[in-house]
Amino acid sequence: MTGSGRGIGHAIALGFAAEAAAVFLVGRTRERLEDTAASIRARGGVAHPVVCDVSDERAVRALADTVSAEAGRLDVLVNCAALRMHQLGDPTAYRKPTVDVTVEEWDRVMGTNVRGPFLLARALFPLLRAAGRASVIDVSAGAATSGEGGRAPYAASKAGLEALSRTLASEWRDAGIAVNVLVPDARVVHEDHVRGVREPTAGARYVVPETLVPPAIHLATSGVSGQRILALAWNAANGFGGWERWEAR
Ligand SMILES: NC(=O)c1ccc[n+]([C@@H]2O[C@H](COP(=O)([O-])OP(=O)(O)OC[C@H]3O[C@@H](n4cnc5c(N)ncnc54)[C@H](OP(=O)(O)O)[C@@H]3O)[C@@H](O)[C@H]2O)c1
Repeated sequence: MTGSGRGIGHAIALGFAAEAAAVFLVGRTRERLEDTAASIRARGGVAHPVVCDVSDERAVRALADTVSAEAGRLDVLVNCAALRMHQLGDPTAYRKPTVDVTVEEWDRVMGTNVRGPFLLARALFPLLRAAGRASVIDVSAGAATSGEGGRAPYAASKAGLEALSRTLASEWRDAGIAVNVLVPDARVVHEDHVRGVREPTAGARYVVPETLVPPAIHLATSGVSGQRILALAWNAANGFGGWERWEAR
């Protein structure tokens, strides 16, 4: 579970642990991973924090070695770690004209959001195959398809992630590994992603990170592959409640 030190990754990690999964918590900041691990253990679950920058090939190899040594197989990989525009140095710069984006900024976003899932796919494939039946969940964003201005690196990275996801769904079908895209179809609010980061938009919907837990569990266990699921819409259609249940207040 990458990006599990906060936000959506934290919520999905707790959701999986509640379903009796032993969860490897992956991110760059040890304290945050330890916080998530403590929350899981307080509820009787099993968590292994592993500090790893997913854009770093050597760190990803070391992560695979750790999972191999401690578990011997991997049932589910969730690619949730991501960098967004305001995380590139200027916390107020949610949007930036494409011509002002530096090559360094472009590479950093691509490094975490696309190269990371690629490195993880390569390094973890033997462990996913060893599970017999496994699942990869790629957390994407509406930006992949919306063409919103000012977010070129992020949008391109999420479109790239979705293309990688569809490709792996086809390549890994015979290995019993499902690969799907999960998209928050609303703005997800949590401690580090408050409303103020982004300009308010009339009619915008703000939801809690737990919105993604039921569809993530579905994708982890159902065997469907090559799908792109919108979290809120999926919840509403599958008995997990409508917008009112998940609204962030
Ligand atoms: N929040 C929304 O409204 C929204 C909407 C659409 C899509 N999404 C997608 O949902 C996912 C989670 O969103 P969020 O709001 O929960 O994000 P977030 O608060 O920014 O959390 C991202 C997580 O990824 C980790 N991370 C970042 N770079 C990393 C790297 N190179 N290696 C390992 N870990 C790294 C961060 O921890 P460290 O900094 O400690 O590494 C952090 O825990 C992302 O993929 C995002 O694009 C979010």
